Amino acid sequence: MTRELNTPVITIDGPVGSGKGTIARSVANALGWHLLDSGALYRLVSLAALNRGVALDDVDGLSRLAAALDARFGSDADGEEQIWLEGVDVTSSIRTEECGAGASTVAALQPVRDALLGLQKGFRQAPGLVADGRDMGTHVFAEAGLKVFLTASPEERAKRRHKQLNDKGIDVNLAALSRDIEERDRRDSERSVAPLRPAEGARILDSSGKSIEEVVRTVLDWAAEL
Ligand code: C5P
Repeated sequence: MTRELNTPVITIDGPVGSGKGTIARSVANALGWHLLDSGALYRLVSLAALNRGVALDDVDGLSRLAAALDARFGSDADGEEQIWLEGVDVTSSIRTEECGAGASTVAALQPVRDALLGLQKGFRQAPGLVADGRDMGTHVFAEAGLKVFLTASPEERAKRRHKQLNDKGIDVNLAALSRDIEERDRRDSERSVAPLRPAEGARILDSSGKSIEEVVRTVLDWAAEL
């Protein structure tokens, strides 16, 4: 317990397309630390619900799914992320906008968030953890030594997300995607439980017009002060 609480944590929270996933992964790799992609957990609950025919307003059913989530995280030979749900590779299928919207719906339910809390805290292992999501700095790791709130202009976020999905072979219309992102951000920011907002003491980092390398360098410079 003590050892776990001494393990350093960097939290990176932010809206859709802010680049937090990419930045968190690069920072974790550079430091040789563990990575928690907390959004993937909500996406997995949403996918598990779809697979099992559990409605997205069935709070008890969703909480049970979250509490018993059979998820495994790993990487392939090239170091690319791989995620399994109940033994099935779901790395691509959880990245669709449909799954993102479902994730945002189930994530607004407090019992679902409570059910995933222990699993998330379990990622805090030596030598350190980089955790990305919406409430990493405000709730799950509120005592983290470095909290970053990553953002970017709405136009840039929509373009990045569009490219990300295209690269994965998922074809979406940019205008429709912008509307979906706006709606998801609104839901994530206005919900009563664990809304998306900068944590107390968070450093705000606007990545608009900055390269991935520049943003990673800034976070690593801040991490060096830990
Ligand atoms: O980051 P990602 O797009 O994968 O997250 C999917 C959804 O999961 C978000 O829109 C948000 O509603 C929810 N989420 C959350 N808390 C987190 C991470 C994600 O509510 N820590």
